[in-house]
Amino acid sequence: MAGERLTDKVAIVTGGGSGMGAATARALAREGAHVAVADINRSAAETIAAEIASAGGQAIAVPVDVARPAEARRMVEAVIQRWGTVHILTCIAGVLRTSAVQDIGEEEWDLVLGVNLKGVFCCAQAVLPAMRAQRSGKIVILASLAGRATSTLGGAHYTASKAGVLGLMRHLARELAPDGIHVNAINPGIIDTPMVRAHTSPEHLQRVVAGIPFQRMGRPEEVADLVVFLASDESSYITGAAIDIHGGELII
Ligand SMILES: NC(=O)c1ccc[n+]([C@@H]2O[C@H](COP(=O)([O-])OP(=O)(O)OC[C@H]3O[C@@H](n4cnc5c(N)ncnc54)[C@H](O)[C@@H]3O)[C@@H](O)[C@H]2O)c1
Repeated sequence: MAGERLTDKVAIVTGGGSGMGAATARALAREGAHVAVADINRSAAETIAAEIASAGGQAIAVPVDVARPAEARRMVEAVIQRWGTVHILTCIAGVLRTSAVQDIGEEEWDLVLGVNLKGVFCCAQAVLPAMRAQRSGKIVILASLAGRATSTLGGAHYTASKAGVLGLMRHLARELAPDGIHVNAINPGIIDTPMVRAHTSPEHLQRVVAGIPFQRMGRPEEVADLVVFLASDESSYITGAAIDIHGGELII
């Protein structure tokens, strides 16, 4: 059902071609936002953008490698050219690798840290001029429970990237608050997406799920609902927060 919580807001969803990014793009569009589905996988982004458009929403696909500053800037320029500004940036693009510490090569370390940490920095920096000019903005970062504890599926580089992005989120929140820009993070537990399915055997997944009090994985749509809340005016006094969503996996 269509809502009106984000009518005519302009939103960028990195990683919008799959999993939680795709669910977030759909959810933002349902609330009336104009959505740029930004992804390194151009055809996946185009598929989601076309799906939103055929449901009556406003969407464009923007190919981007978030870890490259020039590409992040071009992504923002494309959105501004289409809709005039950016109100919402959701940083959802991410990569998971499961190697043990001794097997992590430099290239793999750089990929994971590059997308999950540097990529968030590049996109946040690229939207700043537009958000500062309008003295408002919402940045929502998909971190992970891995950043608060350790990853149950990923390797040390994944855990480090997610811990790092939580620090980045806190710093951005403090530095950008005077400009009216909110910066928050979401820490999902295990969410049923292609990322999890691609890197985990069904047996391992079963063992992990058995340890979750709700006895199931989360759904991408459940995370997308939280992104919409943090992107909307309903979260007007929240910044610098990291909100866990994990079915009880980490109750402390
Ligand atoms: N699925 C989980 O259980 C889980 C848990 C905690 C956190 N997360 C995080 O949530 C986010 C979304 O994960 P998901 O499970 O939906 O994954 P997914 O693999 O389904 O989607 C990730 C998307 O990011 C895109 N992407 C990868 N590298 C990119 C780059 N350099 N530039 C632009 N796009 C790029 C991929 O093409 C893909 O479309 C990630 O940051 C992930 O680390 C996932």
